[in-house]
Amino acid sequence: MAFIEIKDVRFSYNLGTPEAKEVLHKISMSIEKGEFVALLGHNGCGKSTVAHLLNGMLVPTKGEITVGGISTAAEETILEVRSKVGLVQQNPDNQIVAGIVEEDVAFGPENLGVPQPEIRQRVDEALKAVDMYEYREHAPHKLSGGQKQRVAIAGIIAMQPDCIVLDEPTAMLDPRGRKEVMDSIKRLNTERGITVVLITHYMDEAVQAKRVIVMDEGSILREGTAEEIFSEVEFMKRHDLDVPQATELVYRLKAAGIGLKGDMPLNTAECMKIFEKYDKNAV
Ligand SMILES: Nc1ncnc2c1ncn2[C@@H]1O[C@H](COP(=O)(O)OP(=O)(O)OP(=O)(O)O)[C@@H](O)[C@H]1O
Ligand SMILES: [Mg+2]
Repeated sequence: MAFIEIKDVRFSYNLGTPEAKEVLHKISMSIEKGEFVALLGHNGCGKSTVAHLLNGMLVPTKGEITVGGISTAAEETILEVRSKVGLVQQNPDNQIVAGIVEEDVAFGPENLGVPQPEIRQRVDEALKAVDMYEYREHAPHKLSGGQKQRVAIAGIIAMQPDCIVLDEPTAMLDPRGRKEVMDSIKRLNTERGITVVLITHYMDEAVQAKRVIVMDEGSILREGTAEEIFSEVEFMKRHDLDVPQATELVYRLKAAGIGLKGDMPLNTAECMKIFEKYDKNAV
């Protein structure tokens, strides 16, 4: 059994009322410990609903979700589920609760009843993990968006979850903030083995995941490696989904009859390699 199992899950908001609406239609997916998964899809396709289901803030209307073998629907073990799966939201301002960075990061472990000396240690470690240790005595509201979001991530890390789910964590950030946050997320995954589920609208972020899951109107449309998903440019376009910029560029050049060779690139470096191999006399 995988670390997270979503099995035949249906979810409706406002169940039992005339507004009841099923927004997830029998979805299943497995996430292994240590994986880095990106979850993509149009606005309203159900990504945030999945995020809230993963840490038990919502429970399936039908089907089951287990985290480390524990059902998210069991009330007795809900705290255990929440301590295993931490959720980072889009707006860092809504996640910051204290007036000093280190107090903010301490908030989660304090609520878990972690003893004081260990809290100190966890806070320092979490801030170092996101490269914000030197800001520990700063006021969060004076930080940049990327820094605030990294403090929010540190607050989750200090609770020592096995998995973090990030729901569009870079949506409100400028390009520099986005890079800072993505670098931190990648390091948490590669250096600490934390399982990452990243919900994003940015395809250039999605390609950094090991596996990509594409949702469409409450169902799973496609699942595979970034290479597999984004090499099917036409399929993605038919579903009004973007591909990474480098992929798009090479796709358009090929469509215009330029004889580029090799697999579709996912990033600038791969794109450059394709350009270097291009021999205009060979066409
Ligand atoms: N609290 C709620 N009550 C009722 N319906 C909701 C609620 N939250 C979301 N929905 C509906 O559920 C569906 C899925 O919403 P969800 O927020 O999960 O989508 P999303 O993929 O995260 O979208 P976005 O990309 O805009 O964040 C949408 O039709 C939305 O209108
Ligand atoms: Mg959402």
